[in-house]
Amino acid sequence: MNLVLIGFMGCGKSTVAKRLSQLIDWTWVEMDALICQKTKTQNMHEVFAKGGELWLREMEIALAKEYAQRQNQIISCGGGIVLNQIALTYFKETKGKVLFLNPDFEEIVKRLQEDNTRPLFKDVASLKKMYDFRWPLYVHYADEILPIHSQTAEEIAWEIKGRFF
Ligand code: S3P
Repeated sequence: MNLVLIGFMGCGKSTVAKRLSQLIDWTWVEMDALICQKTKTQNMHEVFAKGGELWLREMEIALAKEYAQRQNQIISCGGGIVLNQIALTYFKETKGKVLFLNPDFEEIVKRLQEDNTRPLFKDVASLKKMYDFRWPLYVHYADEILPIHSQTAEEIAWEIKGRFF
């Protein structure tokens, strides 16, 4: 099995996936880092500058196809993976369980405002539009939803371990 973490930018997918993978001794697969490796870029700003969003989505498909063949991985996806039906279908078809980390919008804004690594975060109003558009997609693809309130990443990792492993 693979556990695939989805959710909006800033919901904690990477931190939680990394910690959870240590707790259960599975491999952590960070899609954005692999995309940077594959495209020989340093960060997402460079990916967007060099090839745009479509390039990012093509890489997601290629990586999902490749990593869906492997097992026992905690996979943290970029927030836009739900726009990418082909990539998610690869995961789902190969015994991937999809978990949606779901903090509320205010919490997401708080986190993103302290961070300048996201090319798609321009201002709160456009972020809200994106959030409202995507939220039903996260729900659609999720096998399970984990509401996030004030738990730390450590607590969330343990919570997921208790629930799935
Ligand atoms: C994106 C989210 C980012 C990254 C890219 C696009 C998105 O990942 O893949 O900037 O479309 O929401 P995080 O969710 O890890 O920030």
